[in-house]
Amino acid sequence: MAITTCVFDAYGTLFDVAAAARRAASEPGRDAFAAHWPAIAEKWRQKQLQYTWLRALTGDHVGFWQVTQDGLDWALEAEGLSDDTELRARLLQLYWELDAFPEVSDVLAALRQTGKSTAILSNGSPDMLDAAVRSAGLGALLDDVLSVESVGIFKPARVVYDLVGQRFGCAPEEVLFVSSNGWDACAAAGYGFQTVWVNRAGDPVDRLPAAPHRQMSDLRGLVEFCT
Ligand code: LAC
Repeated sequence: MAITTCVFDAYGTLFDVAAAARRAASEPGRDAFAAHWPAIAEKWRQKQLQYTWLRALTGDHVGFWQVTQDGLDWALEAEGLSDDTELRARLLQLYWELDAFPEVSDVLAALRQTGKSTAILSNGSPDMLDAAVRSAGLGALLDDVLSVESVGIFKPARVVYDLVGQRFGCAPEEVLFVSSNGWDACAAAGYGFQTVWVNRAGDPVDRLPAAPHRQMSDLRGLVEFCT
């Protein structure tokens, strides 16, 4: 069945989650952080995601902003920087204005020119996603921004993927779901979406019940995939 609707994960897929730590590391007076920033960025992201999965399992849902702060606090403590409250505040501030990857606007515009609907489906809370979309100038290129907050549980709960059909009135197989998170692409494939895993890091495929239909190293091949 032809693809009518292209749906994107947000963090890591459209927005560069390492950009906050990278930018803070380049600012004056941050020598200690500059030596640690890649490890902190990696641990921050891993803990943020682990907390979403654990909270989904136990039913202890909080907004993505809370798990983002909790993941950062764990990472700063692990790297011996938890006393630097100014750094913590700066990193969290930068998370509201992450850079989009360079190809994002052109790809969204090209997909819309071919008549596809475009949307975000993200763990992010509506206010975080609004800020990121606005800061990256993507608002006019998206038909909607769907947040897990309307169902109160994080991905990969199936009720999250249900939001796409509810919003666009399309069948799962008409949806192309695009994520840089291998586990998210696998879960979406198992749900019935067509899926592209944007495997920016060249990682192995996750050992989960379903596999993504296609891998790409960035978003540029999506227009050809859809048409
Ligand atoms: C999101 C996270 C998983 O945007 O990257 O949903």
